[in-house]
Amino acid sequence: MSEIKIRIRGLKKHFGAKKVLDGVDLDIAAGTGLVVIGGSGTGKSVLLKSILGLVTPDAGVIEIDEVDVLKAPAAQARALRQQIGMLFQNGALFDSLSVWENVAFGPLAQRKVSRAKARDQAIEVLAQVGLGADVAGLSPSELSGGMQKRVGLARAIAARPAIMFFDEPTTGLDPIMGAVIDELIVDCVKKLGSTSIAITHDMASAQRIGDKAAMLYDGRISWTGPAPELLTTTDPVVEQFTHGRAHGPIKMALRK
Ligand SMILES: Nc1ncnc2c1ncn2[C@@H]1O[C@H](COP(=O)(O)OP(=O)(O)O)[C@@H](O)[C@H]1O
Ligand SMILES: [Mg+2]
Repeated sequence: MSEIKIRIRGLKKHFGAKKVLDGVDLDIAAGTGLVVIGGSGTGKSVLLKSILGLVTPDAGVIEIDEVDVLKAPAAQARALRQQIGMLFQNGALFDSLSVWENVAFGPLAQRKVSRAKARDQAIEVLAQVGLGADVAGLSPSELSGGMQKRVGLARAIAARPAIMFFDEPTTGLDPIMGAVIDELIVDCVKKLGSTSIAITHDMASAQRIGDKAAMLYDGRISWTGPAPELLTTTDPVVEQFTHGRAHGPIKMALRK
């Protein structure tokens, strides 16, 4: 039962003179949750966007269900990537659309269902993340940060995806709302039996949503292990990061 859902080898991506990913290797077993940690600007979002097809890597292999989506015909790669539901870092909700239209964005864009049906389905999904029908017609800008995250989560799970990505789902939330969102994430992932990757800075959150953890450092995965070992490992890079120490192997590029 250790079927690999996503397999990444030698993934590289640079922007201008800056090498962001410099040979990332990762295996994510089907039905498990991986938490990726790493400093700001180390390429965590670029990693997820590469798997999604929003960023084109320079080199490497990204297999979903044992098919390299970087080499597969476009239609096959698209179908494999359609299994992914994504909660973006800033929520990325459309303010010109109502809450329910955001949640139903996929089916509406593909004209798969009538508006009335799409609205009913969206209200059902909103209920799964603890939001009532009363918010369905509001604009996302009328909601609190925690509610916006829930709407983003509702949109991510609406298609019942086999794979879910969460980019810093609790950043900017207070610790209680963060814990509520984590609980919803774990619930949704468990209910659907999905394979997930979550990016976080928050060690409490990492423990709640990850089975395994990986540290992205200097363009590569410098450490992986069971999520609870994040707090006990003697790996110097992970140790510095999880304890938030200013001094250690991680050097912040500060301009004098
Ligand atoms: N589309 C882009 N064009 C140019 N630089 C980018 C682009 N996307 C990301 N970067 C750069 O790549 C680096 C990693 O970004 P990102 O993956 O967003 O970091 P984080 O680990 O904080 O999520 C940053 O230096 C960022 O400025
Ligand atoms: Mg990011």
